[in-house]
Amino acid sequence: MSVALDSDADPAEETRVELPRDSRRMFFALWPDPETRARLARATKDAVRRSGGRPIAKDRLHVTVAFLGNLTPAGLEIASSVPPIAVGVFTLVLDTVGSFAASRTVWLGARSVPPALLELERRLWDALMAKGFVREERIYRPHVTLARRARPVEAEIAPVEWPVGELALVESLPDGRNVHYEPLRSWPL
Ligand code: 2AM
Repeated sequence: MSVALDSDADPAEETRVELPRDSRRMFFALWPDPETRARLARATKDAVRRSGGRPIAKDRLHVTVAFLGNLTPAGLEIASSVPPIAVGVFTLVLDTVGSFAASRTVWLGARSVPPALLELERRLWDALMAKGFVREERIYRPHVTLARRARPVEAEIAPVEWPVGELALVESLPDGRNVHYEPLRSWPL
């Protein structure tokens, strides 16, 4: 079996070669508490199975707020100086499984995205861009990636209510054929 087929890393991460240790792949994310994480995995199990894709391990489930890419130590320090972003705590209700056909991923999303999450993403990027970070052009569509190399699946699921109280800065590390996500720091909302 090839490396690519046996990995649940995202495609950008699979093409990654050994990077010098002074470059760290970072993103800001909503990082579920263990109980929410367990509920997310349970609620999406059937949809993931139907997709026939490579499931994302339970301990990697998250919602990316801002993907930063590979940072130098100075870049990491600057990014870390941006939060807190005080939008207040909110509840994210995740209730819809959908697919990005182009990337063959299946995800869990929200029919109704809390305004506080959109405000968090906007204010975080405004502050990052003011410090020189470059944002991708695409529209922000908050989601939890559930499976890769998957067939399209669409389903309404029993809603998972996620009480969101923190923004986390997470590192993506190579872990054999996969990736490991390590939350380094978090800030209250
Ligand atoms: P995804 O799950 O939809 O692929 C770590 O890679 C996290 O950052 C993932 O949640 C991934 O989203 C997100 N991300 C956003 N933009 C990315 C990019 N250009 N390359 C890799 N990951 C990206």
